[in-house]
Amino acid sequence: MTSIISKNQNKPTLYPYSTENNIFQNLVEYANNQTKLYCEVNPVSGRKLKGQIFTPPKIASFMAGLFTSQNNKIKILDPGAGTGILVAAICDRFIQENHRNLDITIHVYENDKTVLPFLQSTLEACKTALNKLDCSMDYQIFENDFILHHAKVDTDEGWTAYSLDLSTRYDLIISNPPYYKLNKSSPEALALQQYVYGQPNIYAFFMLLSGMLLSQTGEMVFITPRSFCSGLYYSKIRRWFVNTLTLDRLHLFETRKDVFVDDEILQENLIFHATSAQPKPDGKTLISVSYDRQFTQYQEMIVPSKDVAYCRGDDCYIRIPISKTDLEIIEIVDSWPQSLNSLGFEISTGPVVDFRAVKHLRATLENSNCVPLLWMHNIKGIDVEWSGGKNGKAKAIEINPESKNLVLPTRNYVVMKRFTSKEQKKRVHAAVLNADNFSEFEFIGLENHLNYVHKNRSLMTLDEAYGISALLNTTIIDQYFRALNGNTQVNATDIRSLSLPDYDKILAIGKLARKKHLDPDFDCDDAISKVLKIGKHLVKN
Ligand SMILES: C[S@@+](CC[C@H](N)C(=O)[O-])C[C@H]1O[C@@H](n2cnc3c(N)ncnc32)[C@H](O)[C@@H]1O
Repeated sequence: MTSIISKNQNKPTLYPYSTENNIFQNLVEYANNQTKLYCEVNPVSGRKLKGQIFTPPKIASFMAGLFTSQNNKIKILDPGAGTGILVAAICDRFIQENHRNLDITIHVYENDKTVLPFLQSTLEACKTALNKLDCSMDYQIFENDFILHHAKVDTDEGWTAYSLDLSTRYDLIISNPPYYKLNKSSPEALALQQYVYGQPNIYAFFMLLSGMLLSQTGEMVFITPRSFCSGLYYSKIRRWFVNTLTLDRLHLFETRKDVFVDDEILQENLIFHATSAQPKPDGKTLISVSYDRQFTQYQEMIVPSKDVAYCRGDDCYIRIPISKTDLEIIEIVDSWPQSLNSLGFEISTGPVVDFRAVKHLRATLENSNCVPLLWMHNIKGIDVEWSGGKNGKAKAIEINPESKNLVLPTRNYVVMKRFTSKEQKKRVHAAVLNADNFSEFEFIGLENHLNYVHKNRSLMTLDEAYGISALLNTTIIDQYFRALNGNTQVNATDIRSLSLPDYDKILAIGKLARKKHLDPDFDCDDAISKVLKIGKHLVKN
């Protein structure tokens, strides 16, 4: 292994550091070399299983650059430290800014023993470099699981109760957390049970626990997938986060590749800086975006924090507007006073899961017990058409005592795709299932890749169905969802908490759409621009 930092006794210099084989311009380069040495003997397949995707140098330095603390006494944490590049980036910053007499304590957690020698080597390099600046630096490597280390377990007469030990607090927390799913009954999930919904991912637990470990003036910088910003799975963690911390800086990597391209991981990633200060209603968030990890085509914009960290009732979201138009659209949509529920509608998911219902599925209407089965490919424009088939998919479902709960009464519905492909122009594609077109059937089947909007206590009219469908198919709603999440799914929860205009406006849009939807020139954007008086520059892009 290499020796640490150049040992020219007569004339100590900080940069470059030299080792037996290399010269390093800074500590991040030094740590990156440790990563390379480690990766040479640990193939990517094994690293992925351990959630080991190391941060590239430029990103590590960018992240360290986001801290704002001016304190002299600083306690730093990296909860899943790998080879220590993130801590090295913070130390580089102290050195570049020529800080003197800092009193630094660094705690790092790393539960993979094979990476520990590389981590130790980086931390030693940091210590030596900082000591040369008359800064004291002590570090401690915790060779255990970050979550479990903070979980206190009390067992008493067959009962096991979990609580959290939050006694050690940190001023700066920096992390590229591991990414892997945990079992719902794992000790980690039990320790954070009140924040779990569905199958948890360790990265969100790292975020949550780190947030809880911040000192009163603490700051955290994380690089994570964008997935925690919306959707049901992270809803409880997000609610805690949005209501407890101030999110004052976000950076979005707009490509789906490249950030961790060396390790072939395709994720939309973001970096955030949050503080333990209570969120202020008039706070601002700086949002930046780049299209690769070199930060080329870097753009930034300051936006009201309330447009980013946003709650409607109990549902909280983190939205990322990346243009003035996005921001205007968010503000227009937020100003709409209604929601599906307040207007008396509900959204549900198509009950027919094809592989579970396979014995009830039929190629055609074989007998009088069969009814049409509708799939995503049956959505054509703003209408549902059952005539076309696709790839031999079943066109019908047979009703029998076992399958009778899988079908719906034939009524008007708004049907929408739960998934769209990346090539598709819009994230939401909704259409009207007109009961008149299926009047010979008492029931109808909706496959599970569809969501459908129905009325709670009465029947949905065609004006209502066309109004909701046309609105959901507009460019404004598409752009709104792009700011809300980075994937191609728009799930029922997202639609449920979407703000909607007043009922009479939805009806007016519906009437227009109903009259004109077969006209090739009919355009949902024109319809809402006319009814809601929204400037043309916003309704199309
Ligand atoms: C995504 S890597 C990031 C490493 C490093 N911080 C960086 O930015 O390059 C996450 C690290 O956390 C470690 N890790 C995984 N699960 C952990 C846990 N439960 N507690 C502590 N460390 C963990 C992995 O071994 C891995 O080194």
